[in-house]
Amino acid sequence: MQTDGSARLGPVASVAVRTFEARRAGTDNETRYANPMAQYEEELQDGQFYDPDAEYEPDPEYAATLAPDAARQRRERVGPTGRPLPYFPIPGPLTDHGPAKIIAMCNQKGGVGKTTSTINLGAALAEYGRRVLLVDFDPQGALSVGLGVNPMELDVTVYNLLMERGLSADEVLLKTAVPGMDLLPSNIDLSAAEVQLVSEVARESSLQRALKPLLPDYDYVIIDCQPSLGLLTVNALTAAHQVIVPLECEFFALRGVALLTETIEKVRERLNPELELDGILATMYDSRTVHSREVLARVVEAFDDHVFHTVIGRTVRFPETTVAGEPITTYASNSVGAAAYRQLAREVLARCHAE
Ligand SMILES: Nc1ncnc2c1ncn2[C@@H]1O[C@H](COP(=O)(O)OP(=O)(O)OP(=O)(O)O)[C@@H](O)[C@H]1O
Ligand SMILES: [Mg+2]
Repeated sequence: MQTDGSARLGPVASVAVRTFEARRAGTDNETRYANPMAQYEEELQDGQFYDPDAEYEPDPEYAATLAPDAARQRRERVGPTGRPLPYFPIPGPLTDHGPAKIIAMCNQKGGVGKTTSTINLGAALAEYGRRVLLVDFDPQGALSVGLGVNPMELDVTVYNLLMERGLSADEVLLKTAVPGMDLLPSNIDLSAAEVQLVSEVARESSLQRALKPLLPDYDYVIIDCQPSLGLLTVNALTAAHQVIVPLECEFFALRGVALLTETIEKVRERLNPELELDGILATMYDSRTVHSREVLARVVEAFDDHVFHTVIGRTVRFPETTVAGEPITTYASNSVGAAAYRQLAREVLARCHAE
């Protein structure tokens, strides 16, 4: 079964498959003795895995790479991606705002950290004085829930903004508890848009049209996409300047990424020549498992400089923040998770300035 998987995944993932199989079979002696986790995995029954979600103290080596001046503390510090960690300066204040850069947070695979990254990157950018608009573009409304909004109680959402010409964005916009960060919420109504838009003229640019009047007021707009490559996601890609693709550091991370990059390529050719794949963001990384490190190494091998230096570690703090309805930067301001998204914000800002 795993061999089938590796054939489909191509050469990049097949290396990971082989080493993963070898470790599980206990035939890879080097890993077996060097890695206490291998022994732990052997003790588990077939089909069971080590549960990295269990609370643990953050790995000090990983945590140290997230300090704002990590790259300066020690010359040539290597980051989790195995490349030298650049210094991402703390951005200075802005005197005026806009026009906004639009980022689509996109991966058709579910549960990879799109919504978590939208909320927390947005909140970290807002902490650095940027005006941020988050767009919930998933009918499940997880982004809205994550910011403490009950989607079922909303009369107007991003759906109305798409479908009703003449409706002003101000009627839909909600302020969040984070100063400088607003939300265009959504709920299940948005699922109808996918069908209704099909018969519209310029159906792929409905979101772009709806966002246009808002751009002068913000520095960043981040669109949280649903886990599919349907018309809503194509709308998000048509509106965006950049795409961030969160990838969970697990075995099948690269599965489906080729289809996603193909879609991005098609949108760039036919609808939005400005669109760039800004970066692959590794999420749910557990530096203590060989598996996580292996997957991350394969991702860097495949996407090279497109992979963000910032890597988001796995911690139970993230699911907790959803329940609390606030970003990790306020819920657990001093946590490693908050530090990771602040570093991501600095990296995103540094990339923008480098252009
Ligand atoms: N770094 C992390 N460590 C641990 N758990 C995380 C992390 N990031 C996200 N999670 C949890 O994983 C789950 C999925 O995350 P999230 O909702 O952000 O993914 P998604 O890609 O938006 O999912 P969907 O495709 O369903 O919209 C959530 O319960 C979230 O709290
Ligand atoms: Mg989501």
